This record gives sequence, structure tokens and C-alpha cells, in this order.
Amino acid sequence: MSQLARLPDAAAPYGPVNVDAFRTIFRRHPARVTILTADDGTGPCAMTISSLISLSADPAMVGFSLSNASGSSKNILNAGRLAIHFLDAAHVDLARLCATPGADRFQDRTLWSRLPDGTPRFHDVGSWFSAEIAETLPLAGSIFVAARLVGGALEDGPAALLYASGSWHQLGEAIE
Ligand SMILES: Cc1cc2nc3c(=O)[nH]c(=O)nc-3n(C[C@H](O)[C@H](O)[C@H](O)COP(=O)(O)O)c2cc1C
Repeated sequence: MSQLARLPDAAAPYGPVNVDAFRTIFRRHPARVTILTADDGTGPCAMTISSLISLSADPAMVGFSLSNASGSSKNILNAGRLAIHFLDAAHVDLARLCATPGADRFQDRTLWSRLPDGTPRFHDVGSWFSAEIAETLPLAGSIFVAARLVGGALEDGPAALLYASGSWHQLGEAIE
């Protein structure tokens, strides 16, 4: 029997959402891992996220959620602009580093440089956007952000880095 089916309310077709069922569903909802970087004038910050979604292609806009529990959230919001890095499996150590609370993500000076607007960028990641925050929507415990893309580059590696069920994965083969 699956983990979800064992949850008491999981089989109920309607009714209040069971928080455990919600968490179980979203633990098994894989997403590509990205890193946000920004500098609000207090120094560079970087944060691993998996909540990035496409909102619109024209104008090019994305959305993501910033947890109030993440120390870097307020720096990204205060900066108002950011870089969004699309990670491959080869970047898993960087993803771990940028998800470690309080860790210095910028100690290795060879890994990053700055865009003309001052935003820090990890230059080993070939697919990235620079973006400006357009709208914010405060929610309980997090802020949903809509951002307008203003530049970037596309140079994808062979295997997108995914996160699901508490583990790192790489995108596998297509089902015929
Ligand atoms: C795979 C993965 C995805 C994450 N996705 C998000 C996210 O979408 N939004 C968010 O606020 N935090 C997310 N986090 C947590 C942040 O990376 C983490 O809280 C933050 O980097 C903590 O460090 P800080 O407090 O020094 O900022 C994610 C962590 C991991 C490992």
C-alpha cells in the first residue's frame, strides 16, 4: 500500500485538506532545482529553491515562493532584482551549499562574478535569467513573488537536477 493511502483522510473525496496528505503529495512532486542570487547592498546572497514556475512567455515572467524561515528571503526582496540559475546534476554541491542555513555561499571567489547591475552570478551554471521583482503576494509563512525576466543565457547540460521525496535526482529517460 502506498504511503498516501495509509493516511487517514487521504481517501476522502471531499472535505478539509489533510496536512499530512498535502505534505506527502508535494514531497513526491518533483521540480527542477534552481538557485536565486541577489545583493541588496548588504552583500551577496544565494538560495536554493524548487518553487520556480513559468507564469508567462510574453512578457517573460516567472513566479516562486520565498519562505519567511529562509534568512535570504528578505535580502532577495530588498534587492528587487535577482539572477535565477537552472541547475544540472553536476551542480548538486552548489545546490546543497545554497540550501544550508547561514552557510557562506560566496567564499570560493572563483565560482561567481557580478552582472553589470551588481547581481552576483555563479558562472558555472550556463542557463540563467536576470529578473526584476514585479509583484509580491504575502501568504502565511511565505511570500509569492512574480518576476519579470530581463536577460539571460541558455546553455543547458545533459541532466536537469531535480528534488523529490527528500532526495536529489537527475532527469531520466523519456517514456515512449
Ligand atoms: C530542494 C530544495 C528546495 C527549496 N525550495 C525552497 C523554496 O522554493 N522557497 C524557499 O523559501 N526555500 C526553499 N528551500 C529552502 C532554502 O534553500 C533554505 O531555507 C535557505 O537557503 C536557508 O538558508 P538561509 O537561511 O541562510 O537563507 C529549498 C531547499 C531545498 C533543499
